[in-house]
Amino acid sequence: MKNLIEKIKKLKEEKNAIILAHSYQNIEVDEVADFVGDSLYLSKQAEKTNASIIVFAGVYFMAQTAKIISPEKKVLLPNLNAGCLMADMINHEQIIKFKKKYPGIPVVCYINSTAEVKAECDICCTSSNALEIVKSLNTPQVLFVPDANLGKWIEKQLQGVEVITYNGNCPVHHNIKKEDIEHARKKYPHAKILIHPECKPEVSILGDFVGSTSGIIDFVKKSSDKQFVIVTEKGVSDRLKRDYPDREFILIKDNMLCESMKLTTLEEIWHALEYEVNEIKLDEDVRKLSYNCIDRMLKVSV
Ligand code: 13P
Ligand code: SF4
Repeated sequence: MKNLIEKIKKLKEEKNAIILAHSYQNIEVDEVADFVGDSLYLSKQAEKTNASIIVFAGVYFMAQTAKIISPEKKVLLPNLNAGCLMADMINHEQIIKFKKKYPGIPVVCYINSTAEVKAECDICCTSSNALEIVKSLNTPQVLFVPDANLGKWIEKQLQGVEVITYNGNCPVHHNIKKEDIEHARKKYPHAKILIHPECKPEVSILGDFVGSTSGIIDFVKKSSDKQFVIVTEKGVSDRLKRDYPDREFILIKDNMLCESMKLTTLEEIWHALEYEVNEIKLDEDVRKLSYNCIDRMLKVSV
């Protein structure tokens, strides 16, 4: 593995490439990553970088977002099967139908969606800025796609804004029940419970903190507590265990695994970079329209 890591690092230098990695990736990916974080953080790095090649260790919509923002760069996804179950729940035809049902209402699009869907929406958001984005619209009603849980969680935080949601979700988070949290609370009465907002609102409301993957990691960084229950994908608790060996992290369920996120291996990263394969390509009209959606978000959420 050491040899492979060295080879990837050397290739990055030779080719002026960077590697962006989501916090759900297999932990060894961090050994070669330039930036590790949540969707918003990684999108901002894709926007800022002077690199010629971006290797995205994440899922398809994340690499596609990097390409939308930085069309002049070569964006590579090491494993092309790394999709997102939630993003696949809405396609172009379905977003058109949803908008027709509610004419004239602005549409907020969670970043976990395809470029074709983003192209039909007014503004993008991530789990860390969704509240700020919905607030910025200053309207009594918004449409929110595809994550119904995040949309309804945002509605709970806002007085007088109706968030009309599309019926999508992330099965990894949606499967958590409020009884799971109640059970954890009883079993670990001194622990802080940290929850990703892709969980059902009835679950999120029971947390001590609700936020994005980076938000959860930041919460631990600033906290003096010693025990935490992590209610998101295993990659987050793996990184926390590595970085804070003197604290205890309990993953809410053993099966909190995003299979797509775990597909990417160091071998595939090396292969993609060495041969410059698995490049993300986009129709230019779709790219421009989806860019507007993301750019509006990046202007609100600096
Ligand atoms: P973050 O924005 O917190 O990185 O979430 C992305 C995601 O896919 C969570 O399931
Ligand atoms: Fe998509 Fe869920 Fe995996 Fe996140 S955890 S990438 S929302 S399937």
